[in-house]
Amino acid sequence: MNQQDLFKKIIAHSKEYGYVFQSSEIYDGLSAVYDYGQYGVELKNNIKEYWWKSMVLLNENIVGLDSSVFMHPKVWEASGHVGAFNDPLIDNKDSKKRYRADVLIEDYIQKIEAKINKEIKKAAKRFGEQFDEQEFVVTNKRVVDYKEKIKAVQERFVKALNDNDLVEIKQIIVDCEINDPVSGTKNWTDVRQFNLMFETQVGSVSEDSNTIYLRPETAQGIFVNYLNIQKSGRMKLPFGIAQIGKAFRNEIVARQFIFRMREFEQMEMEFFVRPGDEQKWFEFWKEKRKKWHLALGIDDKKYRFHEHEKLAFYANAAVDIEYEFPFGFKEVEGIHSRTDYDLTQHQNFSGKKLQYFDNELNKSYVPYVIETSIGVDRMFLLILSHSYCEEKIKKENGETDQRVVLRIPPFLAPVKLAVLPLVKKDGLPDMAHNIINDLKFDFNCQYDEKDSIGRRYRRQDAIGTPFCITIDHQSIEDNTVTIRYRDTMEQDRVEISKLNQIISEKISLRKVFKEF
Ligand code: GAP
Repeated sequence: MNQQDLFKKIIAHSKEYGYVFQSSEIYDGLSAVYDYGQYGVELKNNIKEYWWKSMVLLNENIVGLDSSVFMHPKVWEASGHVGAFNDPLIDNKDSKKRYRADVLIEDYIQKIEAKINKEIKKAAKRFGEQFDEQEFVVTNKRVVDYKEKIKAVQERFVKALNDNDLVEIKQIIVDCEINDPVSGTKNWTDVRQFNLMFETQVGSVSEDSNTIYLRPETAQGIFVNYLNIQKSGRMKLPFGIAQIGKAFRNEIVARQFIFRMREFEQMEMEFFVRPGDEQKWFEFWKEKRKKWHLALGIDDKKYRFHEHEKLAFYANAAVDIEYEFPFGFKEVEGIHSRTDYDLTQHQNFSGKKLQYFDNELNKSYVPYVIETSIGVDRMFLLILSHSYCEEKIKKENGETDQRVVLRIPPFLAPVKLAVLPLVKKDGLPDMAHNIINDLKFDFNCQYDEKDSIGRRYRRQDAIGTPFCITIDHQSIEDNTVTIRYRDTMEQDRVEISKLNQIISEKISLRKVFKEF
């Protein structure tokens, strides 16, 4: 299956099985805004719990925060968002469609990369086992030309962005002969900057109302509370503040499902350190965050670090953790060494000292900050992309069948177990309900008695339920049930009294955490 089809299937599956719905769908939807259904909300909560516990529970020196979405408008002047949280926009005069100029250029580069990959595949087929990819990409004339073309465009584009040279950005689009994907023409307007923050008003009467913003990141809530937490919690450096919450950005390019949304959730942790120690802690968090991802059992090859060549002016190190989605490697998480920029800005704009007195050094200073920032929704999409699997299976009667299974790591799965009476009589449903009544305090359980057992297994596979407990006539006689494992489809006969222990072990967060 090609990756585009796979992505379409994941989106359709998410809707069919109650994971993600388009917002306000009965009114034809609202672009780049999504709702999470009955299973989606559980998966999302489990992802957040995994992150929260890994930060706040496992680290004595990290505490939590829940700051508000609305903040004083000066916060966003100080942070630089009012002046510079912009995307360069361009319109096509024929289709009247609006695009992010950087995304048009990125897509252009991706097309050339696809051509390179095609050349590599062709050559690998031609040369068979003797094929040396590394040598091929540096010697094949066509590939070398493509690479040079990409490099030249990238260099021009980075320079234009740094110089805020919007005329040059348009010229790159013209020189690369980029067409509007809708109209197919090159009839472009000039490029202009567009601020991504949503504005709203506080105050009931428009004359005395004030413009405020929906926060475009949760991090600033942490910075403005830095001193409150440091003092009330008597925190000593190094220490961190973790927060999960909604953020809002008026994204121009709404695509790739929940990858880029206008309303989304972030899990951010700001780690305050002594100036000079930031490189050490940057490396520490880079490794720690990678381990958090790999502990999910996802293949290392699906991840890569993308080191920023051009750093934001306030940062002295930055790396993205990228995952290979069906639409290519894309950022899931950013780890940034933000120096003392944010706290110093808030100190200057508010006039309040945001310093830390270091007993060991016997002096005060503004701490440096390492930030780890990951989108809940992107992590959700990562889990779905990793989990979605179509398989051919053999039925008991020898016929082949197909199943769609979500191989979600069991500790994140929305429903942990389904209890299925083989028939709707002979006391089996009562027994099934008794088992649920006992297990529901510890696990999200589901009861299902409709359709054949095979169809019920298929339904649970599609939801991603890791364990199916089947009650049959033997269960009445000896208090045993079968437990079927989603991934292997193998079944064991076990005592009902052991179920809690068996499932607890298999979904244990403790076990996952012990890995790192
Ligand atoms: N405080 C730093 C910050 O906000 P960012 O790279 O703009 O940095 C951090 O965002 C993370 O938030 C990204 O890695 C991504 O996972 C998520 N994110 C950003 N914009 C998003 C959007 N429009 N939709 C969904 N997730 C988004």
